[in-house]
Formats: sequence, structure tokens, C-alpha cells
Amino acid sequence: MIKGKFYRSLLSATLLISPASEMLAQEPPINNVYARDITSLNGKWQYIVDPYETGFYDYRWAERREGDGEAYWNTDIPKNKSDRKEHGYSDKYSLNVPGDWNSQDPKFLYYEGTVWYKRSFDYSKKNPTGKVFLYFGAVNYESHIYLNGKKLGSHKGGFSPFNFEVPATSLKEKDNYLVVKVDNKRKRDEIPTLNTDWWNYGGITRDVLLVEVPQTFIRDYSIRLKKNSTNEVEGWIRLNKASEKTLSLEIAELKLKKEIKLNSDSVSFSYKIPKLQLWSTGNPKLYSLKLQSGAETITDKVGFRSVEVQGNKILLNGKPVFLRGICIHEEIPEEGRRANSKADALQLLRQAKELNANMVRLAHYPHNEYMTRVADSLGILVWSEIPVYWTIDFASKEVLEKAKSQLRDMIARDKNRASIVIWSVGNETPVKPERTTFMSNLVATARKLDNSRLISAALEVHNDKGTMIVDDPLGQYTDLVSVNEYLGWYGGFPSDVKNAKWDIRYNKPLFISETGAEALSGFKADSLTRWSEEFQEWYYKEQVAMMKRMPANFVGLSPWILNDFRSPRRNNPVYQEGWNNKGLFDHKGNKKKAFYVMKTYYDEKEKEQKK
Ligand code: GCU
Repeated sequence: MIKGKFYRSLLSATLLISPASEMLAQEPPINNVYARDITSLNGKWQYIVDPYETGFYDYRWAERREGDGEAYWNTDIPKNKSDRKEHGYSDKYSLNVPGDWNSQDPKFLYYEGTVWYKRSFDYSKKNPTGKVFLYFGAVNYESHIYLNGKKLGSHKGGFSPFNFEVPATSLKEKDNYLVVKVDNKRKRDEIPTLNTDWWNYGGITRDVLLVEVPQTFIRDYSIRLKKNSTNEVEGWIRLNKASEKTLSLEIAELKLKKEIKLNSDSVSFSYKIPKLQLWSTGNPKLYSLKLQSGAETITDKVGFRSVEVQGNKILLNGKPVFLRGICIHEEIPEEGRRANSKADALQLLRQAKELNANMVRLAHYPHNEYMTRVADSLGILVWSEIPVYWTIDFASKEVLEKAKSQLRDMIARDKNRASIVIWSVGNETPVKPERTTFMSNLVATARKLDNSRLISAALEVHNDKGTMIVDDPLGQYTDLVSVNEYLGWYGGFPSDVKNAKWDIRYNKPLFISETGAEALSGFKADSLTRWSEEFQEWYYKEQVAMMKRMPANFVGLSPWILNDFRSPRRNNPVYQEGWNNKGLFDHKGNKKKAFYVMKTYYDEKEKEQKK
């Protein structure tokens, strides 16, 4: 018999992940969208490249009005033979969605600007009284959405989902035309800002779905292991509006089935479950959850586990864990494109498994939802991060709100993923007062949204005559101190680490969130020859030797990086050519010599952990 209780309560944003109500004005994203009644709008979309914004502004640079026939969101079909149309969509100009435009046509490789996407579709509502939402997994960077010539809304942020309700009056059974204006221009006051070390892939980079839900539906829910318990789950369910409803929550394998009465828009619950199998890297146990509310049934796969810091250790389910990590960009190097599918996620995470990694740092932005769901199923721990990267405008309140919005989106989408153990609020931001205020505000926001995971960021470290000093003031707010070090690549030689000492000013777990060196795959030479595989191999041998000498609070590392990846910063005409070649795998998925150094080390660490 499972004893349990549920109580009507306004969601306490302090204890649990904050409800959607804290999201921005636009309709909060529907959670677990793939379990809903969805119709995919993926496929070939027609496009117009519009670097001069002709479709959005007239020749006096005044924003075009809704009915303006020359606006690119309006139909481009001439009414008669004399009608003048100076824009048009054609199959001759089409792009795959989801997909970045950079990798689909050489003319787009470096393109930064606006591209208008259009596709037509028919749609018959299955439930005449239901609601229809238009859902985007992500669009980089700014998008404006129009259906049948009417604007649904706009969104900023390149790595998080968003959706708009489609007014019933806007949707036709036949020949709807959907137009999306996408602008990937980098801007000083955006997140990320102007300079990054990755490719600014533009476009509708993730799935586009029509989602049909009842008038009153389950918009969002959270379920997790109760803190300091191994046999009690808690959570909340939130509808899109207040309603007198009875929901049912079921985990059949645990013989848990509860009827939950609602008289508002949300309800919290907690249930004791005697024989709960905890999720772990060695046993990624996922349970089938079923939520039912009237005609609506949502299923999900969820794991239950705890993660915490105790002294200077990280505990997973109460036991110290060493993070055998690797950093990953959301990119398929063989095709030089954004990863966006379940197959892509399996490819990348299987490579991490080949390294015998038990953790991935998803750099430097939230990856697509397939990545975190596949990590759940493969038992790989995840560090998930928002792109507060390098020289963000820390003095701007608007920029802070943008960062918070992306943080909310990241946590809202993935809060039910057991694999995620660390939320990161940024990477290598320069130490100055306004930055530490900005970043500590993000740490506090993340903790308020989710007090069940560790909060981190890649902090600054400085080398004082061979002593690596970690005294970044942001370290007083994060749960662990994580730093990126490139001793022997950016300055000096790999052998310089032999005398390296570490001076960590915090009694917290120490995680090396990046270390790495470049090698052009196949370039063989002696170890002193920079850019050769032998140099990179030497680098990793020295790094591993240093890892074996690290202080007691050392809990793991995530070398930079799994695969070679595209970056416009990398312009050596022989060894880079627009690629950052720090991958342990090259552009074609071949292992470099350094791969085997890390694999051997991780095999040793795994054996140690099993003793
Ligand atoms: C930095 C940064 C990475 C970058 C890497 C490099 O630490 O975090 O995004 O790609 O170093 O220099 O290769």
C-alpha cells in the first residue's frame, strides 16, 4: 500500500521549480511536448534571404504594417497578370527544417542576417473545442512568427523552446501559410553577446510542431525524489487555467495510482514509495509516468535520484562520485551542422560512452531535448548551461532579465531529467564587481527555481608563478568551484604542469570544466611540434599526471572537447581553417591519439570507483 498525500497549494517557487507563471508574457512552453497530440511541420520550407530587411521595413525604414502586400509575411501570389509582386517564395529556394542554414548551402556559411521561412499546411482539428499551439524547439536568434498574414508573436534566444497559441479564427482547414522571420545577427546586449568561440548557426534549428490540447490542459509538471529521502517522490502539476478537475497520476510499475482533485490551476503532491529503484549512471532506471486529466493523457519516462555536495565531495544517491566528463558542442562535425535529432544525440553520447565518460558538459548553451532524454536513458550525468559567455553586458538590467529568461527556460524544459545534476549560469566571465553581482543573481535565481541540483559556472583561475589560484568571488555562491585551465597550450609547454600547484580558496568540490589542446587529425610529428597529434597526446599525458596529484577536493573534469568544431575565431590556414581542433575525435569521427590517454585514465578511475 502506498501512503501519500497531496495538498492544494499555490506552488511554492522557493521549494520547487517555479511554475510557468513566472515565465515571460508569451505563453509558457508546453512541457514534454513530444508526449502531446503533435503534428510535425518539419521538412522543406521555402525561404527568402533578406539582409536589407526589405520584407520588414519599407524604403523609408518604417516598419511595414500588417496588410502591406510587400511585407514578406504576406502572400506573394500576384492577383492578376498586371499585379506587381517584388517578393516570392519558391521550391527553388528551400531549406530543411529543423536545420541551421549555414550548413545547407555554401552561400549561407558565414551569413548573419535575416532569412524568411515559409511553409503551407492543411490542418483539421481533432478536437473542435481544443486549443492549438505552434511550438518551436529553438530558433537562433530572434524570430517573428506570422500565420496567414497575422502576427502570432516574436521570441529572442537561440537555444530554448517557445510556443504561441494559434487563435481558432486564424487556422484554416486548407492552405494555411506560416512565415517565420529569423535573424541571427549577434548583438552586444544579447545572450550570448558579440564574441563566442563557436559558429553562429542561424535558422529554425530544432523541431516545429502543431500541438493540440484540450481547453484546460496540463501545461507543466514536476516530479522528483524528495530531498533527504530515498522512498518519497514529490512534485506539482499545473494546468493552463484554474479548473475543478480530477487528475490521475500513475506509475504502474510501482503500483502507484492516485486521483488528485484540483480546484485551482495547480496542485502539489508527495507519495511514499517503498521499493523505489534510484536512477544512477550504473543503473539508469526510468519509470513510466502517466498523467491523465479528462481526455488528456501524458506519458513520460522519469528517473529518481539525489545529488548533493557534502564537504568537498559530490554525492550521487549518497555516494561520492568522480565525474569522468567530456565537453560537447551541439554539432555534428562530419556535416558541420547543428545537431537536432535523436539520432544526433545518440551519436554524440555514444562517442562519450566510448571514452568511458559518465558525464557530459553541454557547452555553452542548452542542447536540444533529445540530448537530455538520451542522457537519461544511457545513464550519463549532465552539466547544462546558459550562454552567459565571456563579455556579456553585466551592467545592464535588461541583459540580466534576458539571462534569467533563458535560465528559466532551460530549467523549465529539463527539470524532470534525472541525468541533469548541474545547472551552470555561465562560462569564463571576467572578474569585476558588476559581473559578480550579475552572476550571483543568476545563481540565486537558479537555486530558487530548483533546489534539487548543483549550481555552477566556469570560474576564473589565475596562474601565479606556477600556482593555480582559485579565488574567483563567484565561487562563494556556487556549489562547486569549476575552472577551465589550458596549462601548456595557452602559454608554456605541457611539461609545465609537472610543477603546477593548486590553491583553492574554497572548501568545495573542485571540477576542471575544461582542459585541452589542438591537433590536426593525421598530422604526425614529434611531441614538441605544436598542432600534431603527438603534441596533443603529450598534453593529455601531462594533464592526467597532474589530475593524479590534484588536491583532495578534486571531483572530476570535462576535457575540451569531444569533437573538433566550427569556429570563425580559428583561422590558421593549415591547422584550423575555421575549425577549433581540440576534439579527441576529428571532423570525421576518427579518434586522435589523445583519446586513448583519456580513455585509459577513465578506465582506471572507473575501477577505483568500483572498489
Ligand atoms: C575557452 C572556452 C571555450 C573555447 C576554449 C578554447 O575556455 O570556454 O568555449 O572554445 O576555451 O579556447 O578552445
